[in-house]
Amino acid sequence: MKHLTWFIVFITTAALAFQGSGGTTRAPQRVFRLDGGEVTYVVGVNDSGQLQMIYWGKRLPASQEFTTPKSGQSLSSFDMSSNTTPQEFTGWGEGLYVEPDLKITFPDGNRDLVLKYAYHTTSRDELDVVMKDISREIYVKVQYHIDPTTGIVRRSAEVSNRTGTPFTIEQVASGTYHLPRATNYQLHYVTGRWAGEWDLQQQPIHGGKTVLESRRGTTGSQNNPWIMINHASDHDEDQGDVWFAALGWSGSWQIAIVQDAVKGVRVTAGPNAFDFSYYLKNGETFQTPYFYGGFSDRGVGGASRLLHRFEVDSLLPHAPHPKLRPVLYNSWEATTFNVDETGQMALAEKAADIGVERFVMDDGWFGRRNSDHAGLGDWTVNPTKFPHGLKPLIDKVHSLHMDFGLWVEPEMVNPDSDLYRKHPEWVLNFKGRPRTEGRNQLVLNLAREDVHDYVLQVLDKLLNDNDIAFLKWDYNRNWSEPGSPAAPAEQQKNVYVNFTRSYYDILQKLREKHPNLEIESCSGGGSRVDLGVMHLTDEVWPSDNTDAYDRLLLQEGFTYAYTPAVMMAWVTESPTWVNQRSLSLDYRFLSAMQGSLGVGANLNKWTQEDFAAARKMIETYKSIRETVQRGDLYRLMSPREGEQSVTESVSRDGKQAVTFAFLHSSSQLYPFPRIYLRGLDENATYTLRVAHGTMRDDTPQQATGGYWMHHGIDVELRGDLQAAMFILDRQ
Ligand code: GLA
Repeated sequence: MKHLTWFIVFITTAALAFQGSGGTTRAPQRVFRLDGGEVTYVVGVNDSGQLQMIYWGKRLPASQEFTTPKSGQSLSSFDMSSNTTPQEFTGWGEGLYVEPDLKITFPDGNRDLVLKYAYHTTSRDELDVVMKDISREIYVKVQYHIDPTTGIVRRSAEVSNRTGTPFTIEQVASGTYHLPRATNYQLHYVTGRWAGEWDLQQQPIHGGKTVLESRRGTTGSQNNPWIMINHASDHDEDQGDVWFAALGWSGSWQIAIVQDAVKGVRVTAGPNAFDFSYYLKNGETFQTPYFYGGFSDRGVGGASRLLHRFEVDSLLPHAPHPKLRPVLYNSWEATTFNVDETGQMALAEKAADIGVERFVMDDGWFGRRNSDHAGLGDWTVNPTKFPHGLKPLIDKVHSLHMDFGLWVEPEMVNPDSDLYRKHPEWVLNFKGRPRTEGRNQLVLNLAREDVHDYVLQVLDKLLNDNDIAFLKWDYNRNWSEPGSPAAPAEQQKNVYVNFTRSYYDILQKLREKHPNLEIESCSGGGSRVDLGVMHLTDEVWPSDNTDAYDRLLLQEGFTYAYTPAVMMAWVTESPTWVNQRSLSLDYRFLSAMQGSLGVGANLNKWTQEDFAAARKMIETYKSIRETVQRGDLYRLMSPREGEQSVTESVSRDGKQAVTFAFLHSSSQLYPFPRIYLRGLDENATYTLRVAHGTMRDDTPQQATGGYWMHHGIDVELRGDLQAAMFILDRQ
């Protein structure tokens, strides 16, 4: 992508002159402009002193000037101006009925909050606008950062209590994004559940409010904190204006999408307001999570590509150069809890033989963990299964030229564990009430300092004692009875925020102490995937559903928001445990190769032919993984729309394009629809390499990018559950 220069300027309305220098300025009226990539975002202080959206969309000429915004008209006595003004951050006051960004209860029972512009600061890449309540010493710093390449805006807010007394935040958001008034918007989001995550939904935006949320303590898979909004169209993958937003928060969250009284659309996000409060003492500040927003005029596909680019270049650990994902083997589906030294060594030998680069031992290696009924919390090596500790296995794995990874679930405890017997008070609970178990386990209260320190110390020791390159960090239930009895009554609900902050802190400290460590975020599949956790983990596990056909649908939903660079996908057994569906090994490989490839099958059951086929597939994958993990993804045919699914990834340097094609079922003699590639250079010549499957016999070996994109290519796929893969190399 062309690297466009970007800048933030503030324009005084009197002179409309640019001022590039930073600093602190006090003045009654301001307009602020942010440019990044192909996006312009403009806000201003209106005639009522409120911070108001002016423009968010395609980049405008630098010479474009903006006037001071006017607050919205009061429609009638039923809709005061506060409801029709597109305020960037608003307190609950002045007759506001749309979603507030901040709602506070003061100790005297007063709940009115009216925020007005106080001052602002700008620096090269940031804008902070400080708002203050009209009478109380409450300050909100409304924070903006724009990404220079993608134009993705990062919003957050810092609430400061300088009132002299504590108060209770009842609801807080990172900020509100506003879309221009229109009547034909549609909302894209995902729903899901265990083994059925990433189910894409699309619905018109009507009057009223749509709330996407998690009340579960963590991100959850029932919704994901990501949305896209475009104008209704039949061809939205490639064309049209799209606004998107995603919240970087792994606790309970909500995104409210409101069509207001004048058909403006507001998108407000933050910690979930349900059962929420945060007790903020005098002198303390509350920093909200980051809420990202972006714009693309290249359809939903273009919006996804921007997000992928942003995640890889700006968000992931080690960005802009996160490491490519190694091909891994994971023992879970092969052995479940029955892990031991001999069995794991035998699997490791077989995994190395097919070209695996990382061997991961899953659940079952610690405490008295022979099933999911016991052991969580006791993170010491099980002496029966590993009489000499983990060292012999790790040495063996290293001797096979692989690195070693280990499964942990540090935030959980089984009641049947030494830890729980010693510290029953360490779990989330309401005093004197039953403790509801999920998968026979309870959630440790990470908001407690002693629990935070214990978890950090246990993991640190595990990593000091063993040469571990990778942790698969799991989290296998949601909250119940979210009490924190040791905290004073008025601070009980701080647990929602403090738990997540503590989780992030542990991840961060571990990374600092062990800079080469890589971590996967897993939560019984894809229940903890968001832009918050992505900043601290190197990959995610999208679903426990490893049926390679189901995966096509899951992976499509996943890539709307998240990059294939972090999307782990394993080749597992056939028939699959999920659906009892039989799939060829090739099909299973090609499906998993659309993301970060892993193998999770029981290699002890494989034939010599399986090993030979796997060796070849993994070798091919290594030759294309950079394209798949870093390139631009084009979703050419959706598995939701017919019998076919086709994706294409084009490498960043434009030298390679990799296409995967899948056929669910042939019928009535129809051939596979023609595939029209995208993202190629019209005039360059590309040579075709068929890695799997066959093309129609009149397919040229070489052709221009224009030919592959406009004439297209015919792949011969017939039967049920067939797959093909071809590569175009630019000459
Ligand atoms: C979760 C994970 C699985 C596996 C099991 C182990 O379900 O998603 O991949 O690690 O836990 O108990």
